Amino acid sequence: MPPSGKHWKTTAEGIKQLIQAGRISKSGKGLRYKRYLDDCPVIEMGDFWDDTGGTPNMRYVVQTSEKVISRCILMTTDPGDLVLDITCGSGTTAYCAEKWGRRWITCDTSRVAIAIARQRLMTATFDSYKLADPQKGISSGFVYKSVPHITLKSIANNEPPAREILYDQPEIDAGKVRVSGAFTVESLPAPSVMSLEEAAALDPDEKDRQDGFMSQLMATGIRGKGGERIRFSRHEKISGTRWLHSEAWTDEAEPRRALVCFADSSTLMDSRRISFALDEAGKQIPKPSMVIFCAFQFSPEAQTFINNANWPGVSLLQVEMNDDLMTEDLKKKINTDESFWLVGQPDVVLHKDKGGKYRVEVLGYDYFSVSKEELVSGDADKIAMWGVDPNYNGMDFAPSQIFFPMEGKSGGWSKLTKTLKAEIDPAIIGQYSGTESLPFEVDEEKMIAVKIIDDRGIESMRILRTEEAQ
Ligand SMILES: C[S@@+](CC[C@H](N)C(=O)[O-])C[C@H]1O[C@@H](n2cnc3c(N)ncnc32)[C@H](O)[C@@H]1O
Repeated sequence: MPPSGKHWKTTAEGIKQLIQAGRISKSGKGLRYKRYLDDCPVIEMGDFWDDTGGTPNMRYVVQTSEKVISRCILMTTDPGDLVLDITCGSGTTAYCAEKWGRRWITCDTSRVAIAIARQRLMTATFDSYKLADPQKGISSGFVYKSVPHITLKSIANNEPPAREILYDQPEIDAGKVRVSGAFTVESLPAPSVMSLEEAAALDPDEKDRQDGFMSQLMATGIRGKGGERIRFSRHEKISGTRWLHSEAWTDEAEPRRALVCFADSSTLMDSRRISFALDEAGKQIPKPSMVIFCAFQFSPEAQTFINNANWPGVSLLQVEMNDDLMTEDLKKKINTDESFWLVGQPDVVLHKDKGGKYRVEVLGYDYFSVSKEELVSGDADKIAMWGVDPNYNGMDFAPSQIFFPMEGKSGGWSKLTKTLKAEIDPAIIGQYSGTESLPFEVDEEKMIAVKIIDDRGIESMRILRTEEAQ
């Protein structure tokens, strides 16, 4: 008889079935159920994971293991679900979501992280899984491997064993390889342009924020290329101006006077704002040595406007502000020197070939050298990524060609080629690692946009028109 507090696991008939199946053994005075390892060749996972440490070949200093994130996604979502990770780093969540057929949204305050995540997703390949119902698509789920789950009850009742579905083992369609689905990269602040009346009615909080930017600029200076920095010894508000906020003196034996224009935190620095600020700067006595435009984002036209502005003897500097400055509580804690960056202008040439097609060549990017006090050209080998949109509509940059010069011939797209070598000519893919585009056709009415992301994750864009072709 079972000991006190226990009971038979099945009926007398069931025990006979178990004995016939050779599943009962004697143990002392009692009986034991005999279980085999392959009765159910999988084990349920608990909340203690000791098989997930470390990430080989890290591309980001705090990169999370794919195994951990994949497991979390598989535990909590189905194919076609939407996964959100607000601190993407190198984009492991988006990568794993893509891998397991989930949709994703991800963001980060760091431009470097966004640049790494973007490249990681663009150049990744994934297995293609068989869909449960190809008509219905991804929401029908995949065809999964399953294993039998033989139990005492199934043997005693002479029933076929249940099957366990292995949701982490979809069946692979060996004839296919997937790449990431189409995605867009958005940046904050959203490119909204205020009317001048709206902008003129600047709210008092915005004024406070600009005062905060001013103290931060005084504390950290402006970072240029190769560790160069413009430092200031004095920085004061100016009165009687609407678009210029303050004046600063460089920390040098012979201080130079700079006028500073900050964009609002929610709007782009556009060419109108720049032109109004320059009108005000023109009336200032004495003449400044520099006019500094600081913004979280510049409109592409603003960059061109600054390039073309004719201000002899005055340096017009385009400075990007770290997005962290947008967050009031973060700002109090900021002690980084990376709050203000000098933005480089892409040095780009447009060629027109005999056949009427165009090509873009990136020579590098111009930046203001603090020591030389002039614009100099930076090396093209510090360009992490660049792309061409031959039909730019003035708003959305939709590149038709993308290049990863810093990765050289063996990184970037060529990693993708290795997996897809049957379909892609490695000689052609090799051309997507340099600084010269492949020939493209242009609708003469449209503009050609070239966007460059440098090794610091800083983006700059140049708009070209067909008339500029050489
Ligand atoms: C630990 S990392 C994430 C690593 C990521 N799971 C991976 O596999 O690469 C955290 C990220 O959060 C970002 N971050 C910090 N504060 C943030 C904020 N307020 N909003 C968005 N991202 C933020 C950092 O820039 C950093 O890239």
